[in-house]
Amino acid sequence: MLIAFAKGAIRDWRDDDLDRLVQLGDNRKIWRNLRDRFPSPYTRADGEAWIRQNASASPRTAFAIEAEGRLAGSIGLILGTDIHARSAEVGYWLGEPYWRRGIATGALQAFVPWCFREFDLVRIWAAVFEDNVASARVLEKAGFEREARLRRSAFKDGRVQDEWLYARLRES
Ligand SMILES: CC(C)(COP(=O)(O)OP(=O)(O)OC[C@H]1O[C@@H](n2cnc3c(N)ncnc32)[C@H](O)[C@@H]1OP(=O)(O)O)[C@@H](O)C(=O)NCCC(=O)NCCS
Repeated sequence: MLIAFAKGAIRDWRDDDLDRLVQLGDNRKIWRNLRDRFPSPYTRADGEAWIRQNASASPRTAFAIEAEGRLAGSIGLILGTDIHARSAEVGYWLGEPYWRRGIATGALQAFVPWCFREFDLVRIWAAVFEDNVASARVLEKAGFEREARLRRSAFKDGRVQDEWLYARLRES
């Protein structure tokens, strides 16, 4: 797949993303805002496993974000199951050199309509640590609404934290 947006593109992962993935992904400032399954340190083996896993996934739900012709980050969905089959969780991260340039906002704005159509979803949601102002803002700029404070829902980096639940509903 390929989705172009003003500041970059969303595309499938490729084997030649490995070096840059490890370089950008090995960053505690990214790790601290994600689930613990995002590795830290981020090793070459982690990068290889990630690219391999996504190459063989069916359907593909995780993609690379490219900016200035280079790998810049990651965006993907976790599809719900059972009664949540028409909902999905969205997640993303960008390498630190790309922060604060509108790239995550542009990527999410482009990705969400594609996901609604591609997977016949009616709801896309995200949960953000209470102090992750940047990600909350990205979600708001991409049309997500804050629905709830999930009190003490997360344990990250040795600390119990609240999360903000955000969601965007399909319009048509
Ligand atoms: C969250 C993240 C993806 C934001 O990416 P980004 O491309 O820098 O975001 P944008 O440039 O599109 O900025 C969107 C808004 O957030 C604001 N913002 C960005 N970084 C900020 C920061 N550190 N503090 C406060 N506001 C911030 C921007 O000013 C902008 O708002 P504005 O247009 O009202 O000024 C990036 O910081 C990141 O990868 N963080 C670590 C991983 C993570 O948190 N992932 C999301 C988990 S839910």
